Parts: sequence; C-alpha cells; structure tokens
Amino acid sequence: MAKTRSLIGHRVLHDSLWDHRLSVYTIGDPVGKRGGYHESLQAYETPHVPTPYRDLFAMMDFVEPSPRDVFMDLGCGKGRALFAASLYSLERAIGVEKRLDLWSLAQANLMRATGLRSPVEIERGDAVETDLDRGTIFYLYDPFGEAAAEKLFDRLAESLERVPRPARLAYRRPTWARHVSGLELVGDCAPELTIWKSQRED
Ligand SMILES: C[S@@+](CC[C@H](N)C(=O)[O-])C[C@H]1O[C@@H](n2cnc3c(N)ncnc32)[C@H](O)[C@@H]1O
Repeated sequence: MAKTRSLIGHRVLHDSLWDHRLSVYTIGDPVGKRGGYHESLQAYETPHVPTPYRDLFAMMDFVEPSPRDVFMDLGCGKGRALFAASLYSLERAIGVEKRLDLWSLAQANLMRATGLRSPVEIERGDAVETDLDRGTIFYLYDPFGEAAAEKLFDRLAESLERVPRPARLAYRRPTWARHVSGLELVGDCAPELTIWKSQRED
C-alpha cells in the first residue's frame, strides 16, 4: 500500500513538473473526479483523466513519428497528449474535444504553452464524427462507450482504405479493442496502452 502511494505520488510529481515546464495546467477535471452534469452538453459525462506524461513519451518513442505525421488525440481533454506529442517533430497535432469547459481550458493552455516544437490545433466537436483522413497517428484514452467506439473504428478503417497511408493507432485502456479493424496489432508500449499499425508502411 505504501509502495503504491509512493508510486502515485511520484507520477503526480512527474506530471506537475512537465506541466510546469510546458507552462500548462492539464491536471484534474473542473467538475470533479466523478464527472457530472454539463450544461453545454445537457448530459452527464465521464471525468477528464489525463494520461501520465511518462506513458505519452513511451508511446511517441514507440511509434517513432516523422515530420510528415499528423497526431490526432480523439477526446483531448485539456490537451496534455497534444503538448507531449508536439515536443516531437510532426507536421502538426490536432485535438478534438466535445466538452466546452475542457476545450476552453485546452485553448487557454495552448495560448500560454512554451517550448512546443510542432504546431497544435484544438477543435471543439465530436471525435467520432471528425475528419480522420487528416491523421496518421491516432490516440484515444478510453473516451467513449461501445457504440461510439465501434463507429469511430469503422470510420478509421474506412479512411485508411480510401486514403491508404502508414498509420498507427494508440489506445489507452482499450476497453473496446475488439472493434478495431483493418489494422495490425503491434503490442503494448506502456501499461494498458496498445498500438496497432496500418498494413501499409512506407
Ligand atoms: C480520459 S480523458 C483523456 C484526455 C486526454 N486524451 C489524455 O489522454 O490526457 C477522455 C476525454 O475524451 C472526451 N470525450 C469523450 N467523448 C468524446 C467525443 N465523442 N468527442 C470528443 N471528445 C470526447 C472527454 O470529455 C475527455 O476529455
């Protein structure tokens, strides 16, 4: 128990240090750990829980991005994964977030972020419906329920078939992994963070 507490404490400290270094604040959820009712969506939502920076860096090192890659975080919350990805050399990083409060906080983070290497764009909208043809590295941290995940993965397979390109999918806490199709399973790059790749490789 004491060891678990110390590991969590170490992770929180590591995340805070990276937020400080990038001049952003990506920890927590404005409506609390249990999520809550969102006026802007008129619906109850699951809470924003950011991915530890350590796992984001492990993922980026694993997929070895190139300056031609476009990273997309589908359900980007306050933008942490975008800021971590943009420390690598990419064409750009695009985040999609449907909650107005989180999207606004992500935009505020982007305005004050320092040290980013690649351009970042943050859009407000439904990640399930977004234009996936733009992306080559797709990131998800268990953002949706089964029906939405199935639709998103169908749309991704269709996009990769219509516009063949080298692509990777990184899926943290991959609850609905059975709906991923048209991609080849590569393996885990961090605990509960699984990578797939398109069959087409340059
Ligand atoms: C677990 S958080 C992960 C945040 C960020 N990707 C990270 O890893 O640090 C999931 C996020 O997905 C967002 N989300 C859920 N459903 C969405 C949808 N249909 N379209 C866009 N964002 C969505 C939530 O509001 C939340 O911010």
